Amino acid sequence: MDRIKITGGQRLNGTIPISGAKNAALPLMIASLLTPDRLTLKNVPNLADVNLLARILRNHGVDSAVDGKRAGPSQYIGETFHLSARDIVDTVAPYEMVSRMRASFWVLGPLLARCGQARVSLPGGCAIGTRPVDLHLMALKEMGAEIDIEAGYVIAKAPGGLRGGRVVFPKVSVGATHNALLAAALARGETVLENAAREPEVGDVANCLVKMGAQIEGIGTSTLRIQGANRLEGAVHSVLPDRIETGTFAMAVAATGGDVTLEGARADLLKTALDTLRKTGVEVQETNSGIRIARNGAALEPVDVETQPFPGFPTDLQAQLMALMATAGGTSVIRETIFENRFMHVQELARLGADIRLHGDTATIKGVKGLTGAQVMATDLRASVSLVIAGLVADGETTINRVYHLDRGFEQLEQKLSRCGAQIERLTG
Ligand code: EPU
Repeated sequence: MDRIKITGGQRLNGTIPISGAKNAALPLMIASLLTPDRLTLKNVPNLADVNLLARILRNHGVDSAVDGKRAGPSQYIGETFHLSARDIVDTVAPYEMVSRMRASFWVLGPLLARCGQARVSLPGGCAIGTRPVDLHLMALKEMGAEIDIEAGYVIAKAPGGLRGGRVVFPKVSVGATHNALLAAALARGETVLENAAREPEVGDVANCLVKMGAQIEGIGTSTLRIQGANRLEGAVHSVLPDRIETGTFAMAVAATGGDVTLEGARADLLKTALDTLRKTGVEVQETNSGIRIARNGAALEPVDVETQPFPGFPTDLQAQLMALMATAGGTSVIRETIFENRFMHVQELARLGADIRLHGDTATIKGVKGLTGAQVMATDLRASVSLVIAGLVADGETTINRVYHLDRGFEQLEQKLSRCGAQIERLTG
């Protein structure tokens, strides 16, 4: 198993290109199930999760091809995927696949809409929480699906096809919104999704569906009004930049000090997180090419933050902010309101010398003068990268085990950081 070794204490200076968003690329790839035509996705990040999803979709009959050579002057410009689901050959998504990647559960809506049936394994819990799928099923039922659960599988049927419906989500769910939106694009008539997730990745999927022939009003708001199409067509769509990768590198620069431009980043996708960084005393500037983050010597001010659905502070940046606040000049309070168990990084950060107390959903972080390198364990994607940030700040050497978590969601992490002066390397085997 690979490990990452970091020798901390270097400031970061230079440019980091931001990749396409993993959490948009995945549902966009799933959208290919909705049309027999070719869907071309540009700026797709080369990540373990993307490649695994391509394999999962292949089981359903989606042919995928990736353009041989990356275009453009930068080696980081994402890949171009061509996906064609001329015939759906299998409407079963087995446990072995769905349990490896939760987002593959989102094939349920599109398969049901296109084929009138689907059998998809329940994803099960995961390290950050129980993560039920009741809202996904509720939405599809509102659209006329008959749903049974048997032996760990969701058996869904809509013999005459799905029809439009009115879905009022009692709680904001990104995945349930994706599932319902994808299904509604091919359902008969109008579907209204209320209290839908407003995450930019949902908007990106909606924009792609519009190119494919669906009519959607309210993109970017919490009420989506979708007129389903009889048949959706192929399209060409470019994945929006990854706001979580952007926020992660912004916090890394804030933590180490230095001056870095996050190339291709869009400030409108993470306003709350950038405002939070400004409150810590870090310089955040929108430029023509992206976002510039700088901190030169000044102490970090502590902040109090609560995670919220978009446009609030994202849960996917909670661990990274905690790593940053570990060396702030005072006490910060971070409350996690989205997932019930997303604090696994706390114990690992403590191994580096962070002073963090947990009470239920709230972490109190007393800034310490400095962190010290140690061996730590990656537990999930975002927790792992918080350890990278802490390792970059810590005195001496930090080794992060179980790096495969990072490979799921960060493209060329070591290369991007080392180009800016970080001492970071991958130890293989
Ligand atoms: N929930 C329910 N019932 C449901 C669905 C969700 O109770 O049917 C609950 C969840 O348990 C959670 C909350 O609602 O407490 C929000 O979950 P949501 O459905 O929004 O999360 P998700 O769709 O499973 C996506 C991202 C996550 C990100 C969350 C929240 C992808 C592939 N995953 O997950 O990203 O944390 O939204 O923004 O888009 C990551 O990239 O590391 C990651 C975990």
